[in-house]
Amino acid sequence: MIGQRKIEYKNNGQLRIMAEAGLLLSRALDAAVAAAAPGTTTDELDAVFADVVDAAGAQYNFLGYYGYPKHICVSVNDEVVHGIPGPRKLREGDIVSIDGGCVVRGWNADSARTVIVGEGDPEDARLSEVTRQAMWRGVAAFARGTHVGDIGDAIDDFVSEQDGAPLGILEDYVGHGIGSQMHMAPDVLNYRTGHRGAKIKPGMALAIEPMLVRGSIETRVLDDEWTVVTTDGSRSCQWEHSVARHSDGIWVLTAEDGGASELLPLGVTPVPIPA
Ligand code: MF3
Ligand code: CO
Repeated sequence: MIGQRKIEYKNNGQLRIMAEAGLLLSRALDAAVAAAAPGTTTDELDAVFADVVDAAGAQYNFLGYYGYPKHICVSVNDEVVHGIPGPRKLREGDIVSIDGGCVVRGWNADSARTVIVGEGDPEDARLSEVTRQAMWRGVAAFARGTHVGDIGDAIDDFVSEQDGAPLGILEDYVGHGIGSQMHMAPDVLNYRTGHRGAKIKPGMALAIEPMLVRGSIETRVLDDEWTVVTTDGSRSCQWEHSVARHSDGIWVLTAEDGGASELLPLGVTPVPIPA
């Protein structure tokens, strides 16, 4: 899905517009997450999200992407990514990944969160928490590392060092560069490969988005040509942030606080994009 191989380096002014898009996206996702309750349809989550983005006068990047029909992806239980909102009603115990994006003055943001509806299986809660923390390890590696491969190494190491039932890291779908388009070079793998990948440089913006599963990492696409499910029916989870490396440090574009609350304990201090 990535059309070109050249990495787009943004100046601080461009990154500040991306931060505007990111902040709006964070608020729209807040609203969608808050709406996830037993009996709510996934279409209703889509509408709640779209109301926030419309009110700000921003545009969408998912809608119309290779013909994609909705504003967000909602992936429930064994659905890994690209679940299409519809009449499906959420039920107590569902694990729901909500992935959204928006565009402000031509600059893209992309972010995903997972929520468990009501009282869930503790193993699903653990799946979501390990995925979330793995994402933050990846973000910290983007701040501290020298090559994009350091991100996948950090995510992989964190997931493998967990006690308890092993969790699988999906390999069929990966993170990506982001900027004037939603999907750009480079690919951001969520696992260790032995390749260092592109050099990390100021002006890079990446969507870091680990997807973890409780069973096999094998997936297939449903007849709707979008929804990706695990072939063994095991539950899956995704967290994603768009993150910028700028002249003075990193800033998590899709977090209200630039990632400070999660990154400070990992020894990384996010720096606002300079004016
Ligand atoms: N955030 C999703 C990804 O990076 C984008 C989905 S685009 C859509 O894969 F068209 F599928 F919605
Ligand atoms: Co993405």
